[in-house]
Order: sequence, then structure tokens, then C-alpha cells
Amino acid sequence: MASLARHLFGAAVVTGAGGTGIGAAVAKALARSGCTKIAITDINLNTLAQTKEAILSINSSAHVLHRPGDISDEHFVDSFHHEAFNTFSRLDYAVNCAGVLGDKTIKAVDMSMDSFDRLNNINYRGSWLSCRAQLRNMLRQDPLPEHPKQRGSIVNIASQLGIVGRPGAAAYCASKAAIINMTRSNAIDYSDDGIRVNCVCPGVIETPMTTSSPEMAEALKPAINIAPMKRMGTPDEVADAVLFLCSSQASFIQGHALVVDGGYTIN
Ligand SMILES: NC(=O)c1ccc[n+]([C@@H]2O[C@H](COP(=O)([O-])OP(=O)(O)OC[C@H]3O[C@@H](n4cnc5c(N)ncnc54)[C@H](O)[C@@H]3O)[C@@H](O)[C@H]2O)c1
Repeated sequence: MASLARHLFGAAVVTGAGGTGIGAAVAKALARSGCTKIAITDINLNTLAQTKEAILSINSSAHVLHRPGDISDEHFVDSFHHEAFNTFSRLDYAVNCAGVLGDKTIKAVDMSMDSFDRLNNINYRGSWLSCRAQLRNMLRQDPLPEHPKQRGSIVNIASQLGIVGRPGAAAYCASKAAIINMTRSNAIDYSDDGIRVNCVCPGVIETPMTTSSPEMAEALKPAINIAPMKRMGTPDEVADAVLFLCSSQASFIQGHALVVDGGYTIN
């Protein structure tokens, strides 16, 4: 079970928090780590409600704001963050997990513009819109007394495929590489404001994204076997890294892309 030794004071936002994937694991780990003000969003209302229930079963006195919506919609992203900030009067930790893998492995010449736009609108544009809203809100607050050097901390979920390429996934790889370099650039721009911006690059993780069909599981086998640890990671293993980067235990880590990949990218 992912959690952090040091308490996470203040308020958090998690996108892509529905279901049983990385976002849901992060939301639950935040609750286990003492964070009691958590705003969660996902396009899927049913799975989002399940995550809310899971948080409340960890801490029944937690205040959980859950709002379904499309992360690529500027109006939704801005109004969700506005509501979260107004509800909790703060935003200390923001974790951007909403993302899609795309339907199947596909080379550039076979990809339609609709598929390309959907992938980039959710993965890159959604992360960019979320970061913009989070930075705007974090800039409105002073640091908490518990971590006076940290006004806010943002963690984006990129991918090992933002660092290296993979056959049949050019658009996905590029959307994740964009998140990594957006992370670095925002980190440079907001260091003087006491805001840290980092990203985590997961390897193959056992979530609905990778286990939804037998074809997908089969297609991922080579990627699992390339990694020295030769297994899928768990959402909790990613959540542990995310919470560390959120926390003031990572106070001098800025603009970093932390791989959590069983060694995939070193091989
Ligand atoms: N699972 C892996 O192997 C893996 C590896 C590297 C990176 N990632 C990244 O981790 C993140 C989380 O993925 P996961 O593996 O937990 O998969 P997941 O499918 O469980 O989670 C993704 C969530 O994003 C939500 N979502 C999809 N489109 C959305 C939209 N338009 N607006 C709002 N929410 C939307 C989904 O409903 C889902 O709950 C993604 O960004 C993914 O690219 C996953």
C-alpha cells in the first residue's frame, strides 16, 4: 500500500483518478499519507465515485470533491480547479494522471487525424491545461508553515515512452515526450515562485490501460521482457514515487523525469 512517512498537509488535486489505475492509487495514497482535502476528476463518473468511496474508507473525515469531466476541455479544467481552490482555499499538490494509450499499435501513415488529435488532446493538451490552472492557483497562496520553501508541487505522469521510442506508437511517444519537456520548462519558469514541477515516467504498469484486452496484454509482453526486472509494475509503486516528489522530502528536486520502469530505459 503506497503512503508516505511524512504527512502531506494541505490540499491536493488528482486527474485521471477513476478506476483502478495510477490516478486512483495516487488519490488513495494521498489519503493514507494524511492529506484530508482531495479533489479528484476523471471522465468516468462511476469509477470516480468508486475512488471517492475508497478514500473515505481510508479516512472517513476526509473532504473529497469529485467532479467528472473531459481533461481536454479548457472550460472544464479551469472551472474544476477554480472550484477545488475555492473549496479548500489552497492547492499544495497536483498530480496529472489522465491519459490514453490509443486503440492499437499504429504507424504514422495509417493514423487518422481524429486519432492523433484525441491522443494529443487528452495526453498533452490535458496536462498542459491542468498545469496552467494549477500554477495559477498555487501562485495565489503562501507556502504552508509545514514546508515554508514549497508553495506548491506538481507531478505529471509521462511515460518511459516519452524517453525512448517503441514500434507503432509514434504519436503516444511524442505526447509523453511533450509532457516531459513541458515539465522542465514550467519548472524553470516557476522556481522563483517556490513551485516545483516534476514528472514520473512509468514503465509497463498493471492497470486497465494495459490489461483491458488479451491483445493488449500480448502486445506488451516484449516490453515487459526487455526490462531487467521482467514484470509489470503496480499502480502503488508509481504512487510511492509520485508522493515522494509531491512532498517536501523532494525539496531540491526540480524539473526531473523520474523513471519507475523496472529498468526498461537502461536496457
Ligand atoms: N499503465 C501503464 O503501463 C502506463 C505506462 C506509462 C504511462 N502511463 C500513464 O499513466 C497515466 C494513467 O494511466 P493508467 O495506466 O492508470 O490507465 P487508466 O486507464 O487506468 O487511467 C487513465 C484514466 O484517465 C481517464 N481519462 C481518459 N480520457 C480522459 C479524458 N478525456 N478526460 C479525463 N479523464 C480521462 C480514464 O477514464 C482513466 O480513469 C496515463 O497518463 C498513462 O499514459 C501508464
